[in-house]
Amino acid sequence: MMLQPLAAEIPSRILPVCIDAPVLGNQYVSDRYWMLRLDAPEIATGVRPGQFVLLTPSQTPGEGPSLPRPMAVYDVDRADGAIDILYGVVGSGTTQLTRFRPGDRMTAVGPLGRPFEPPSDATRLLVVGRGIGICSLTLLARERAERGHAVTVLLSGRHRGAIIGADFCDAVGVHARQLCDEDGSSDVESIRRLLVEQYDPAPPDFVATCGSKRLLALCRDLGRRWTCEVQVSVEAHMACGLGYCHGCAAGEVGRDEESPLVCATGPVFRVS
Ligand SMILES: Cc1cc2nc3c(=O)[nH]c(=O)nc-3n(C[C@H](O)[C@H](O)[C@H](O)COP(=O)(O)OP(=O)(O)OC[C@H]3O[C@@H](n4cnc5c(N)ncnc54)[C@H](O)[C@@H]3O)c2cc1C
Ligand code: FES
Repeated sequence: MMLQPLAAEIPSRILPVCIDAPVLGNQYVSDRYWMLRLDAPEIATGVRPGQFVLLTPSQTPGEGPSLPRPMAVYDVDRADGAIDILYGVVGSGTTQLTRFRPGDRMTAVGPLGRPFEPPSDATRLLVVGRGIGICSLTLLARERAERGHAVTVLLSGRHRGAIIGADFCDAVGVHARQLCDEDGSSDVESIRRLLVEQYDPAPPDFVATCGSKRLLALCRDLGRRWTCEVQVSVEAHMACGLGYCHGCAAGEVGRDEESPLVCATGPVFRVS
């Protein structure tokens, strides 16, 4: 499977800034997930669906971990200048993030990376996400639904409690279908049958997905079947987030070329 960089031009992109953002909220949500709200008008004003921020988890000098952690912007309140980050606690950095309280300050850099870029005439969107990768898809679903586009979201997770984004979709009026491993509904072949049945008569004109390899392969197959554009948001370990350290090279292109950098060329790529 090939990941192709999006077009060289990034339409109306704002440059990333480094800010000392006041924490407005940081609450446990469910399973291993927490929701963080930052007062970050400099980022909120221009962030686009699929872009991310780098958050510094340490609060005091000398405290680890030393590198910031990449997190997708889950939602934005442009009027209030706030961004929401939904994060899963997996290691030392995300554990540190849970210690922030309202009124604390967090160093944040963003908005970073390439956003999703659906074709300009796309009005029927299919969004397929699994686990924490869903966080990079929510803003796309919301903003497209607000434009009156037909958006369907499939949310997949290990079990019911691990499916994220359902409340968000309800709140913003996007139809979401929940699938989980527990009852077998997230099995790739079941999803394929479901989508073929639903979309063969009138296919979507854009499919967006996230890092799950099985869902990515499914979306690529369906994109070929329906001749529609498929884009994926990819995850990688990151250090600088700005294209300097080359720590996030995706290793997805031919042997003679340098791998694309997920932070700068992605995280959103065209799937072919
Ligand atoms: C563009 C982008 C957007 C992201 N958005 C979100 C988000 O919205 N919410 C969220 O919870 N997470 C998101 N992630 C993943 C998040 O950055 C990592 O989970 C986080 O950095 C882990 O930090 P840690 O210190 O807690 O874990 P570490 O102690 O660094 O690692 C703990 C475990 O997690 C694994 N891990 C660490 N980073 C990643 C990664 N990038 N991908 C896969 N596995 C990893 C490690 O291999 C290890 O097994 C995103 C990553 C990228 C690249
Ligand atoms: S994280 Fe440094 S180049 Fe991508």
